[in-house]
Amino acid sequence: MSEKNSASGTFYVTTPIYYVNDVPHIGHAYTTAAADVIARYKRLKLGRENVFFLTGTDEHGQKVEKAALSAGVKPLEFADSVVTRYKDLWARLDISHDDFIRTTEDRHKKAVQTIWRIIKEKGDIYPGHYEDWYCTPCENFLTENQLVNGKCPDCARPVEKLKEESYFFKLSNYAKALLAHIKANPQFIQPESRRNEIKSFLEKETLRDLSVSRTTFSWGIPVPGDLTPTLPSPVKGEEIGKWSSHVMYVWFDALTNYISALGYPDDERFKKFWQRNDSNVLHIIGKDILRFHTVYWPAFLLSAGIKPPTTVFAHGWWTVDGQKMSKSKGNVVDPNAIIEKYGCDQFRYFLLREVPFGLDGDFSIKALEGRINSDLANDLGNLLSRTISMVEKYREGNIPPAINSKDGDNERNIHESLRHLNAATTGYDFWLDSLQFNIALSQIWTIIRAMNAYVDQAAPWKLAKDNKQAELSNVLYTLCEGLRIIAVYVYPFMPSSAQKIWNALGIKKDISSVSFDEEVKWGKMPEGLRIEKAAPLFPRIQ
Ligand code: MSP
Repeated sequence: MSEKNSASGTFYVTTPIYYVNDVPHIGHAYTTAAADVIARYKRLKLGRENVFFLTGTDEHGQKVEKAALSAGVKPLEFADSVVTRYKDLWARLDISHDDFIRTTEDRHKKAVQTIWRIIKEKGDIYPGHYEDWYCTPCENFLTENQLVNGKCPDCARPVEKLKEESYFFKLSNYAKALLAHIKANPQFIQPESRRNEIKSFLEKETLRDLSVSRTTFSWGIPVPGDLTPTLPSPVKGEEIGKWSSHVMYVWFDALTNYISALGYPDDERFKKFWQRNDSNVLHIIGKDILRFHTVYWPAFLLSAGIKPPTTVFAHGWWTVDGQKMSKSKGNVVDPNAIIEKYGCDQFRYFLLREVPFGLDGDFSIKALEGRINSDLANDLGNLLSRTISMVEKYREGNIPPAINSKDGDNERNIHESLRHLNAATTGYDFWLDSLQFNIALSQIWTIIRAMNAYVDQAAPWKLAKDNKQAELSNVLYTLCEGLRIIAVYVYPFMPSSAQKIWNALGIKKDISSVSFDEEVKWGKMPEGLRIEKAAPLFPRIQ
């Protein structure tokens, strides 16, 4: 996101809505954790009421219908069971979404039918005939030329030939406008490499109109106003196809979730988080669904007279031990198992620290355990526990106030820590606004390591022995105050650990509802706090 957008206005962040034909895995956890970090950070910057965080599930389409059929249940029953697994995982991963949209909800169907009508009235939807290829796993229309060895160019799975009546959206009308929008708004597609990819796609290819309805299955939102006779539903007792023989293309339906959840077209929430001049909209997605979000979606919006989102950020993909993750390989990482064994914050930290957001990354237990033991247990956990025990030992648990002392070495050390903290304050906003989570974290860890080194240099045990009480108080104060601020910085990434740091320092406030800019100022620690001893923040993995 551009920096000018970061300090004021409203902020709306979304994840893709996840297909319910599959259970959640590390890829889903990744996007959702990233969006959660941004949402938590923005709440501290802009105020809780100015931030809205949406996730949800994509429940229509041929792929889901097939999965339900083979499980022998109705699509909605099938979806219900998978949705629970997503909701449970988000609770375990400490995801703070404000809403969870399901595309089978009435509020969503109504919004999708409204935008369809508006686009149709504009003259951008017309009836026709589709005869070409389709990839059901990707829910994507393909031309003969796009196929690679007769298979889908994206997922390499078999494609099927479709021949059916269809409504079309005049995508070809929007190529110029999209290109102009991309050129005029450098923050629209991020990172830069993805922006270039879409720019050259639009410059080189002629956009063909997009098929936006299907007639050969019925698990979708009925096209409004199309009252041609119904196809028999493939699922006994299922009534979705009752009013129309056309159901909407699942991507037309799914993309609209981003506004249906805000109460499009009339709700105040839609106005506040999408339409105002100072509203910022960020869609976080994986690189595989970039074109749907940066070509189809803004074209639908432009046609309906709605402005495109501010930013679409595409992250990379995770492999596992160097291999592509797949059910057939049996190497799909279940986030539940990782959280159970290693802890929620540990997993969140790893996901966002290990790989630059935007690039592909590799997951391995070895790398996860390495990060937990070095960054979390040795660096941050150790800094907290040694600070707490020194306050206990030398000040009977009372955090001392800073005392003016003119001792040269000690002053220099304090200033060194302060210098790092101040540099972080300016850098942090920039790195988080540009979604470079790993850099934000590595900067924080530079401070944490500097503070551990400061303990070794200042040697409080020596100050105690030499009875240099003022200096000892200063060192202890510096450590506690530094930790108080570090907790604010790590809060978006590791919310419950940040609260535990505050609890250990005796700070009674709820860290999720403070003002970031106020709390990161040096010297804001209230006087007279008493530390509270607690279990180690991050137990070492043996
Ligand atoms: N339903 C569509 C999105 C509609 S949004 C209007 C969809 N769903 S999905 O469940 O298949 O994928 C959701 C997200 O998971 C995508 O952003 C995809 O990039 C991401 N990932 C799937 N596997 C992944 C990895 N191995 N690594 C990282 N992210 C991955 O697409």
